[in-house]
Order: sequence, then structure tokens, then C-alpha cells
Amino acid sequence: MPTIRPIENQDILAISQLHHMCFERGWSQKDIKNLLEKEGIFLLAEEKGRIVSCIVVSSVLDESEIVTLMTHPEYRNQHIGEKILQESITSLQKKGTIKIFLEVNENNRAAIGLYKKLGFTICSRRKNYYNNASGAEDALVMELLLKKGNNS
Ligand SMILES: CC(C)(COP(=O)(O)OP(=O)(O)OC[C@H]1O[C@@H](n2cnc3c(N)ncnc32)[C@H](O)[C@@H]1OP(=O)(O)O)[C@@H](O)C(=O)NCCC(=O)NCCS
Repeated sequence: MPTIRPIENQDILAISQLHHMCFERGWSQKDIKNLLEKEGIFLLAEEKGRIVSCIVVSSVLDESEIVTLMTHPEYRNQHIGEKILQESITSLQKKGTIKIFLEVNENNRAAIGLYKKLGFTICSRRKNYYNNASGAEDALVMELLLKKGNNS
């Protein structure tokens, strides 16, 4: 199993390359640098020096948004995304987050399956939110409510 650790500035190039591999519209290094300057949780999973998964969560007061989550295509279906997401949820709860939310493409079965497995539920739909090569697609908004006060 890979090791999970916080994202550091020297990881930005590799994270940008991984993001381009995982999404139709990849993030530039500047996009990532800007996100890391915000309040939140930024973790990556590393195996033998290779970044294989990462998560970026942005927090405002007691609410947090999963801005991105990805696993390298060669490392999928090994519960790495689940591990990094679970570790983020645990850290967010300790920091006082009571609601975690995210937007996900309605056709993204893998991500929806992963979020549901960890307790997220669908709370709303945003029509035509994505404008991809395949056309307009809806986003599902998913959320996970956490109990307050577990900051041990
Ligand atoms: C979504 C993503 C991060 C999942 O990462 P992963 O490391 O392969 O996921 P895991 O192996 O940890 O999967 C854990 C659980 O998620 C669900 N899941 C994962 N892949 C799935 C699939 N293809 N179909 C349905 N459910 C799936 C399952 O419940 C699985 O648990 P199980 O194997 O015990 O049934 C990965 O597919 C990815 O990077 N996709 C491209 C980027 C992306 O869409 N990110 C999400 C943006 S919101």
C-alpha cells in the first residue's frame, strides 16, 4: 500500500501531470499552487517515489469541499482512492468540519461509487454543469455530514 503524506511545493509539477492524465481539462501548476495557498487538506499517496493518488479539499469555517480526487490509471481499483479519502475525512472531522460536499459528473460511476461507499449521499443535481467533448452533462452534488466535537 502506498504511503500518504501532505502535498508539498516540490510535488506541484507531478500533481499537474497526474491531473492531466485523469481529467479532460488538466490543471496547470499555477492552478495547483493557488489552491494550496487556501485553507484545507492536501494529501497525496506515493509508492516507490511515484505519486499515484491525490486529494485537494478546500475548507471555509466548518464546511469543506472536495475540489479534486484522483488515482493514477495504473493504480486504480486497489482501494488507494478510498484510503486517501478516508484519511482526509478523519482529518477534517478533527479540524471541526461538519459538512463535506463535492460535485461529480453524473456519469462518473467510479467516483460516485467511492463516495457512496464512504457514506456520501446525493443531495442535488446541477443541470448541464459540465460542457465536455461528449456534450453537456449534469453534476450531482454529494455531501457527508459529520458529528461535531471529535477533535481528539
Ligand atoms: C474515482 C477514482 C479516484 C477512484 O479511485 P480508485 O483508487 O480506483 O478507487 P478505489 O480502488 O479506492 O475504490 C474504492 C471503492 O470505490 C468504488 N469504485 C471504484 N471504482 C469503481 C467503478 N469503476 N465502478 C463502481 N464503483 C467503483 C467501489 O465501491 C470501490 O470499493 P470496492 O472495490 O470494495 O467495491 C478514480 O477512478 C479516478 O481517479 N478517476 C478519474 C478522476 C475522477 O473522476 N475523480 C473524481 C472527481 S469527483
